[in-house]
Amino acid sequence: MSITGLNDLKPDDNPRHIAIIMDGNGRWAEKRFMPRAIGHKAGVKAVRKIVEYCASHEIEVLTLFAFSSENWRRPEAEVSLLMELFMLALQREIDKLHRNNICLRFIGDRTAFSEKLQQKMSEGETKTQGNTALTLVVAANYGGHWDMCQAFNNVVEKMNSGEINREAISEQLIEQYLSTAGLPDPDLFIRTGGEQRVSNFMLWQLAYTEMYFTPTLWPDFDQNILKDAIKSFKSRQRRFGHTGEQVLNKSIIL
Ligand code: IPE
Ligand code: IPE
Ligand code: MG
Repeated sequence: MSITGLNDLKPDDNPRHIAIIMDGNGRWAEKRFMPRAIGHKAGVKAVRKIVEYCASHEIEVLTLFAFSSENWRRPEAEVSLLMELFMLALQREIDKLHRNNICLRFIGDRTAFSEKLQQKMSEGETKTQGNTALTLVVAANYGGHWDMCQAFNNVVEKMNSGEINREAISEQLIEQYLSTAGLPDPDLFIRTGGEQRVSNFMLWQLAYTEMYFTPTLWPDFDQNILKDAIKSFKSRQRRFGHTGEQVLNKSIIL
């Protein structure tokens, strides 16, 4: 939905796009006196439940923040483990996603990953590209700053080659060069784990997203908490800069 898209507003609508920062795996394990790795493994299980829920409840896009451009700063052993789990999850899940008519897409700078992992990512995207039940976007080595930077670089390249001229640069044009091109902006943002920050996630795309923070640690996140988040989303009036009265009157016409 565009920022000025008052005509698109329908109260009680489901969010079309849900974006989640899956945080708290490490603390979940530490609370149980277990290594952080166990928390990350438990986190993968929670992903499955949420993907299934979204695919069967008419959510168009689910974006999951799996690894940030800043997560390389973690101890080497934890980074390696996360890469292994990522590979394992792809090996196990791609066919299942395809069988469930789910389209898989990755955003982020994938050039930092191993050749093998990059190949698996492309394989998953190619295999599932025609699927329509849900688009599952996995943000891996993703950062909002990176996203804007790569978009601006691409725009400058096209300008230099004469494909676009300076006057054509607009918000709509920049959006076409973001990694999320073609997807609606997130309607609902959820962050688990209690922190109330965005951590360099989808900085451009979150301009008018409704935010929902829960102290639940990601491995404990389930369909019921997701339902609560969606319920909270539906109870809000999205104004996109208009007055509440304007929104109400417009929704009567709709
Ligand atoms: C989120 O959980 C998973 C990743 C960032 C890969 P964390 O690992 O950040 O868990 P906490 O925040 O340390 O508990
Ligand atoms: C954000 O979580 C990234 C992912 C969940 C993949 P972090 O745990 O890395 O965020 P900060 O560093 O606490 O802000
Ligand atoms: Mg964290």
